[in-house]
Amino acid sequence: MEYKFKQENYDFWLERFKKNSPNKVCSNDIGLDAFESQQILSKISDYKSVLEIGCGNGLLYEELRKSYKLSKFVGTDFVDELVKECASKKIDNNDIFIQLDMTEVAQNTFNSKFDFVISKRAIQNVLDHSLQMEAIDNFGYFLNDDGLMILVESSNDALQKINLEREKYGLQRIYAPFHNLFFDDELILNYDFKNVKLKSIDPFASDFYFITRIIYARYAREYLKEDPYYDHPMQKIALTMMGKQITTFFSQIKCYIFEKI
Ligand SMILES: C[S@@+](CC[C@H](N)C(=O)[O-])C[C@H]1O[C@@H](n2cnc3c(N)ncnc32)[C@H](O)[C@@H]1O
Repeated sequence: MEYKFKQENYDFWLERFKKNSPNKVCSNDIGLDAFESQQILSKISDYKSVLEIGCGNGLLYEELRKSYKLSKFVGTDFVDELVKECASKKIDNNDIFIQLDMTEVAQNTFNSKFDFVISKRAIQNVLDHSLQMEAIDNFGYFLNDDGLMILVESSNDALQKINLEREKYGLQRIYAPFHNLFFDDELILNYDFKNVKLKSIDPFASDFYFITRIIYARYAREYLKEDPYYDHPMQKIALTMMGKQITTFFSQIKCYIFEKI
């Protein structure tokens, strides 16, 4: 399907692949990225099959294969070069890597069903909320009856709450990058999916975002007189607070879990 900035999005990921070290293709914030992966990894188990939406250069694939004896892994991504890179890391003969635009998934795309369908910030690259919901539903068709879809994606609702708080302290608004459309939580809660049902939305990163985007942002601006950066000790402290959920509103990244209907 066509959607806004599709080609630009493709070029953006290709450029990141060419310019960055392998652990920074997916994100510049490698600390947060590891926690996002952990959210997914903690819900998988041995001898299960996994279908990944947006496998990129295979960081999560490698972690999955290191952690579990999977029966099968299928990685999909629309950037040909990334799929090839992921395929070059193939660890098990049962694993398959396919160039696939997630908005083109149909009932004949895969010839088997899966225990887990996963995505780490892939669906938010589709700049159309209806196409995002359709992609979730269409991938949901390929879930086994007791399967789970685990999506770690950004929430626009949480970003707005972060910005409301930042405004109180004269901090600039944060905008989603041009190649992302963050999830609309109200839409997800009320959408009439045919193949899946929303089980939970986990704001696992709320304390991390509260500390980095509000407390550390204030500290950097008001006292340090510098821009925040990912290696600062406050970022590291914030990472250790991940998952405690002392706050819940500010989880710009959330774990959306769906089960088969
Ligand atoms: C944040 S990266 C995730 C990479 C990988 N999961 C990892 O952990 O390293 C998002 C991925 O989504 C892919 N993507 C963006 N739009 C897509 C689309 N329409 N169909 C399939 N993949 C897409 C990008 O190419 C990129 O590799």
